[in-house]
Amino acid sequence: MPAPTSSGPADRRPASVIRDPSLRPSGQLKIEWVADHMPVLKAVAAEAQRTLGPAPLGGIRIAACLHLEAKSAKLLLTLRDLGAEVFACGSNPLSTQDDVVAALAAEPGITIFAWHAATPAEYQSFVRMAAASGPSIVVDDGADLITMLHTEFPNLTSAIVGGSEETTTGVIRLRAMEKDGTLAFPVLAVNDTPMKRIFDNKYGTGQSVWDGILRTTNLAVAGRTVVVAGYGFCGKGVAMRAAGLGARVVVTEVDAVAANEALMDGFTVLPMAEAAPIGDIFITVTGCCRVIRAEHMQVMKDGALLANAGHFNVEVDLGDLAAQCAPGDGPRRVRPNVDEYLTADGRKLYLLAEGRLVNLAAGDGHPSEVMDLSFALQALAVLHVAGGNLTGMGGRVLSVPDELDRRVAQLRLASTGTAIDVLTPEQRDYLLKWRV
Ligand code: NAI
Repeated sequence: MPAPTSSGPADRRPASVIRDPSLRPSGQLKIEWVADHMPVLKAVAAEAQRTLGPAPLGGIRIAACLHLEAKSAKLLLTLRDLGAEVFACGSNPLSTQDDVVAALAAEPGITIFAWHAATPAEYQSFVRMAAASGPSIVVDDGADLITMLHTEFPNLTSAIVGGSEETTTGVIRLRAMEKDGTLAFPVLAVNDTPMKRIFDNKYGTGQSVWDGILRTTNLAVAGRTVVVAGYGFCGKGVAMRAAGLGARVVVTEVDAVAANEALMDGFTVLPMAEAAPIGDIFITVTGCCRVIRAEHMQVMKDGALLANAGHFNVEVDLGDLAAQCAPGDGPRRVRPNVDEYLTADGRKLYLLAEGRLVNLAAGDGHPSEVMDLSFALQALAVLHVAGGNLTGMGGRVLSVPDELDRRVAQLRLASTGTAIDVLTPEQRDYLLKWRV
């Protein structure tokens, strides 16, 4: 592990550990660009300062584990502007943008432990450094930071008043911890709110997965067969945008209801064994493991592209993919973020972004307007925790109060100049009655 590359302040805060502080100007420009497209987060912060005072998070130490790119940088800056002391690490080894973290590390009140393409050991050590900061509030994306706190720093968990979790996989892991009685503090499942799932998981993933694939491959989608594994919130967005780009879309599922929805949306539904020989582009977005394995790879067409958008790089079995090559052969990097696997029988299979979330590892992630909503919810969740609202809740995964979700929806409409109708007293009355 190289030495810290930026010096910490005179107090006892550790120094940031980043790749290259000189990349700061480029990172600052990226943050400036997205900030202009994140009016809801700005409004949430302004509202908090108006109602709670200039530093509603004053004296609070926040540890965050997020995909460190420009939009999450804006969230961290906002939390700092609200008074918090922020320590952050990346939530995926490939999604950290070195220029953005250089810009963040130069900010007072923010300490960063992250660089792009961290090895597994480096990635773990960065999460460990964020955990060791001794937070009272945790903001997680995938639950790596919260699990690190429980496994390596159990003595620090009693000081944590609560946390928030950004993604489906993180919420699933935290619910497993809640179920076996391990979770030591309450966590708000930001992922599960309508304003997060509908807009971030569906529309955000729908756009950014295609952005990542297109900018990485420079290939056409129209006329090709796209196989989307998993028809949940993310899969629906990915399939919808694939159809918009002119692809024939095949969906694979394990859930009968989701499979029916895919059929009614006009897609072909097949088991992966039948989809594998006909697909041109495969996108896994299930949150499950080994969705594409050896038996599927063995029958794929020459030139098939494999991409994953689920949280962990376990949906395409990477060991099975390596085993398709002739003995002694390995993958060849043919373009940035594209690895060619020449199979023993002479076919070429292409893996994008090493099987990590293709939209963040090979792109900039979701559009700013979408992350504006998710991060406005995260900021409201942090303010909710800081306001003592989870006191006495214990180790539970909790829903974000509906009024916070609705506030984000209202602020979003206001920012777009969209007005909606309001129930008249007569209508309100009507909806409360059971007699017609
Ligand atoms: P979801 O729970 O709404 O949908 C997952 C779907 O996959 C379900 O319908 C389930 O039945 C299906 N599935 C599970 N195992 C399967 C298998 N073996 N084969 C086929 N289908 C299977 O979850 P959501 O919100 O769509 O998230 C999916 C994954 O994407 C999670 O890992 C989540 O953390 C991640 N995610 C990634 C984002 C990104 O930016 N790339 C954004 C948001 C979530």
